[in-house]
Amino acid sequence: MAKKTLDELPMKGKRVLVRVDFNVPLDDSLNVTDDRRIRMALPTIRCAIDAGARVILMSHLGRPKGGPDPQFSLKPTAARLAELLERDVTFAPDCVGPEVEKLVTALTNGEVLVLENLRFHEGEEKNDPAFAASLRRLADIYVNDAFGTAHRKHASTYGVPALMPQGTRVIGFLIEKELKFLGEALNNPVRPFVAVLCGVKVSDKIAVIENLLAKVDRLLIGGAMAYVFMVARGQKVGKSKVEREVEKKDGTRKDIIAVARKLLERIEASKKEVLFPVDHVAAKAFAADTETEVQDPDIKDGWIGLDIGPETTELFREKLADAKTVVWNGPMGVFEMVAFADGSRAICETLAHVARQGTVVVGGGDTAAAVEKFGLAEQMTHISTGGGASLEFLEGKPFETIEILDDA
Ligand code: 3PG
Repeated sequence: MAKKTLDELPMKGKRVLVRVDFNVPLDDSLNVTDDRRIRMALPTIRCAIDAGARVILMSHLGRPKGGPDPQFSLKPTAARLAELLERDVTFAPDCVGPEVEKLVTALTNGEVLVLENLRFHEGEEKNDPAFAASLRRLADIYVNDAFGTAHRKHASTYGVPALMPQGTRVIGFLIEKELKFLGEALNNPVRPFVAVLCGVKVSDKIAVIENLLAKVDRLLIGGAMAYVFMVARGQKVGKSKVEREVEKKDGTRKDIIAVARKLLERIEASKKEVLFPVDHVAAKAFAADTETEVQDPDIKDGWIGLDIGPETTELFREKLADAKTVVWNGPMGVFEMVAFADGSRAICETLAHVARQGTVVVGGGDTAAAVEKFGLAEQMTHISTGGGASLEFLEGKPFETIEILDDA
């Protein structure tokens, strides 16, 4: 169901409370090192400013525990936003309470106020009704543009819109874009539809593999994820990083190799074309200047697999060449080190080409960083701002935080 967007509401003079995802990385001096999430929220923020709204932005940053902590302040994001907007942005020292309400009352049309980290209050993650009510007091209109946090049912993403009357709860342009590209890829893809799944953690992507298996024409599995399947098949992976088990919420352990074995059976039964690496760039140590060797089909004892090999790269490129829709999540190897970046770069270059004739959606923070590093971000159809959120979307999970908002 399509959702109403903020431009459909009269906003002049209204207090427009926007949930953004300004959860961005900061360096030791607390400077924003990657402002992509802030830049992606600009169309919504500019729309509200231009309409004469009194714009109030709220977000979390990191996972602070136990109250305010300067390391997790949103102040640097407010400063970066002011630079990007080329206008003053006021920063509130908290996100609720009389002082914040005073700052909100003082706003004039078109002015922007950024609130301090929502997670400095434990009510945020608990979706506490009293905390949600304090936030709700700041708003005439509620906009959710925090796709990266859409899988979290927190006070700012669920509690607040639940308290707002119908006709005042809308999505922003970033969420609209995410739903369009991820939604179309998943539910109405132009075929061939190919998914490329890599990364270290298989546990995060089991449900994604299961859901995509039913939808794609081809699935390419690379990165350290492939090593888990190699172990499940009885192949050797040397000293490679392999996620063998994870701790479940109830404290018991889950055997990931056993899960991978079951997935292999399902892959077999699906009759879908699922491809794994046939060779690897292996290294003596996890270091940029270590000895390396191409090895196949296994990785020798004492060696660590850190990238897909040249034969795999060619195979994957071939299998992507005719794709009309591609979803890519997870780099092929340790692209941060030059010696292990070739696989990811080659796939990225191929996808830049594919995007000229079709749709390429990139998801996950590491994959986005790889695409940026190779200078190909502009060539992709869409780079999702969601990490966990884009994975849950690909799993086919509904987002209650979006469902609760007004339909178009
Ligand atoms: C993210 O970075 O994935 C989002 O901002 C959500 O953050 P969280 O996993 O700490 O809830």
